[in-house]
Amino acid sequence: MEFQDVVHRRRMVRRYADQPVDPTVVKRMLENAVHAPSAGFSQGWAFLLLDDVADLARFWRSTTPADRAAGEPDAWLAGMRTAPVVIVPLSCKAAYLDRYAEADKGWTDRDEARWPVPYWHLDTAMAALLILQTATDAGLGACFFGIPPECIGGFRTEFGVPESYHPIGAITVGHRVADTGARGSASRRPRRRVDEVVHRGHWS
Ligand SMILES: Cc1cc2nc3c(=O)[nH]c(=O)nc-3n(C[C@H](O)[C@H](O)[C@H](O)COP(=O)(O)O)c2cc1C
Repeated sequence: MEFQDVVHRRRMVRRYADQPVDPTVVKRMLENAVHAPSAGFSQGWAFLLLDDVADLARFWRSTTPADRAAGEPDAWLAGMRTAPVVIVPLSCKAAYLDRYAEADKGWTDRDEARWPVPYWHLDTAMAALLILQTATDAGLGACFFGIPPECIGGFRTEFGVPESYHPIGAITVGHRVADTGARGSASRRPRRRVDEVVHRGHWS
């Protein structure tokens, strides 16, 4: 697929066909993810791959807040749970503090105030976009979504994730169906125009 088509066709998909995803495509998603740029080439990311029915059930059980889990699943959850693959991108702040304490960077005080924005999350998010774009390129659907903060501790325990790794969200992946599931915010809000968001030469 042409790069422009990948960019334009990528939309979040929140319901999937009852069909497995080719493991070679999943491998390509993860291989592309590690080609994302990273500050100081720190690469402080990790990816939890869940592609087994029991593991997927554990994922949804540990990341669904109790009030939402009670009773019938809502349309969003019912659709998202049809995904045969979930990838959780995790960021590692310590990897950045360690890397920037090295001689070529010299931030030996490990002071977090030095960071203009948390590059650990930023870089992991760039890797996540590559996963989404690779899914589109392969003709699949995918959706990035947040893990509720109150569920992160339980998620860590369930999957043995160390405290130094923080899930920045999760990505469902699967084959597209005509009904792409719950409609996201993009169905209710217009895309902002380029001339609204670009300030050429001076903010105006
Ligand atoms: C950081 C981030 C968090 C998001 N969280 C959710 C989420 O929790 N649930 C969801 O259904 N979609 C989530 N989305 C998807 C957005 O709703 C979607 O990207 C936006 O509405 C634009 O639609 P599009 O990606 O289909 O073009 C998230 C996207 C991003 C980048």
